Amino acid sequence: MSNPDHPPAVGVLDQGPELIFPPGFLWGAATAAYQIEGAATEGGRTPSIWDTFSHTEGRVVAGHTGDVACDHYHRMPSDVRLMAELGLKSYRFSVSWPRVQPGGSGPANAEGLDFYRRLVDELLGHGIEPWLTLYHWDLPQPLEDAGGWPARDTAGRFADYAELVADALGDRVTYWTTLNEPWCSAFLGYGSGVHAPGRSDGADAVRAGHHLMLGHGLAVQALRASRPQAQLGITVNLYPVTPASDAPADVDAARRIDALANRFFLDPVLRGSYPTDLTADLREVTDFGHVRDGDLAVISTPLDLVGVNYYSRHVVAAPVEGAEPEPYWRAPSCWPGSEDVRFVTRGVPVTDMNWEIDAPGLTETLRRVHEEYTDLPLYVTENGSAFVDAVIDGQVDDVDRLAYFDAHLRAAHEAINAGVPLHGYFAWSLMDNFEWAWGYTKRFGMVWIDYDSQARIPKSSARWYAEVIRRNGLAAQ
Ligand code: FCB
Repeated sequence: MSNPDHPPAVGVLDQGPELIFPPGFLWGAATAAYQIEGAATEGGRTPSIWDTFSHTEGRVVAGHTGDVACDHYHRMPSDVRLMAELGLKSYRFSVSWPRVQPGGSGPANAEGLDFYRRLVDELLGHGIEPWLTLYHWDLPQPLEDAGGWPARDTAGRFADYAELVADALGDRVTYWTTLNEPWCSAFLGYGSGVHAPGRSDGADAVRAGHHLMLGHGLAVQALRASRPQAQLGITVNLYPVTPASDAPADVDAARRIDALANRFFLDPVLRGSYPTDLTADLREVTDFGHVRDGDLAVISTPLDLVGVNYYSRHVVAAPVEGAEPEPYWRAPSCWPGSEDVRFVTRGVPVTDMNWEIDAPGLTETLRRVHEEYTDLPLYVTENGSAFVDAVIDGQVDDVDRLAYFDAHLRAAHEAINAGVPLHGYFAWSLMDNFEWAWGYTKRFGMVWIDYDSQARIPKSSARWYAEVIRRNGLAAQ
């Protein structure tokens, strides 16, 4: 512990013997293109739905946009050096579709692809495994104008784009995930409209969810054909859904939300079918006429891994006559057919997003995916928390975030002990960034961003995480 080559251990690592992760465990951090890159109009990039949405008055808190963000597009080499200093084994980033294929169809934009070639080269040069996400919500605007994800053709466009990225980067990127959190794209983008493109129609949200998964399946087939060595997967955001009481109506509310939030994606992708209770719950919303023969076979094309994003748990209760919905889930709802279900808060500690802190929910979620769905390797592709941070004497001592990571890593370790093949963990996020409809008002980073000067300050959680990675583990409690 007094080894002069390494900084002193921080916080809980000082206590007791260690909780060790499996050899080769992939320790990483994640970001997404629109949240960090900036350079929105440079290098041939054209608008995505998030450019349009953030530039529309009233959509994003304080009118914030991703125009500049963390200016990562210009600061990429020093950002990669920072990752190396933290000892990251892997970096999960997303490719901006409108940067590499402006407009969403036609030829590649060489200048856009060059940025990602340089990024991947920098990463490999520092011994950091690139983990590439093809779609983290930035649909090229012309594809939205042509109908967006509710339109079937968008799935085909996505597969073409996947091929174009594979041609450019497939020789040096091993890990590929197609979509990030299709639930958010479909149900926040087209259901509640709190995310881009800001449309509110339950049937469109369901169609969008289907076509996102179809695009995923087609992309996996295209990538598999051109890059047989690649490790291919998808990232889904999952929540344990708990009824507020044992009352049958509350239990049924939990079943409905679980179907929409989790099984809507897990079942088609990993089992090749939609849950029958889900289609029954949605019968007033859609007849699923958009599902064609053969779609589910494409959607369930075999994968090499599954990425799980975990933040919190949903606790729900049956509708009560005249009760007001929770503000975040305000009408129009992101739960088509189940708009009246109430989201209940239990009074446990929450993050700055007002999300309940529930580390055991991570163990539960990972065990569920493994025990009910698949033997594939699992990765936590996002996990993290927003808290109000402050720079004091040039330091950011984010004890709450550090404690959140610590608790969730213990929960991940418990899942491994229970037999889950968990192969890696990516903290969300490497750095503070544009938090979608919340703009820059929510900070999730392990690295503080000063948005005026673009200075980067590693917070306490970053130094602590570096030590966790170095030891491949935590102190036992
Ligand atoms: C996830 C998103 C990610 C970030 C975190 C806080 O839903 O994938 O971009 O916004 O939430």
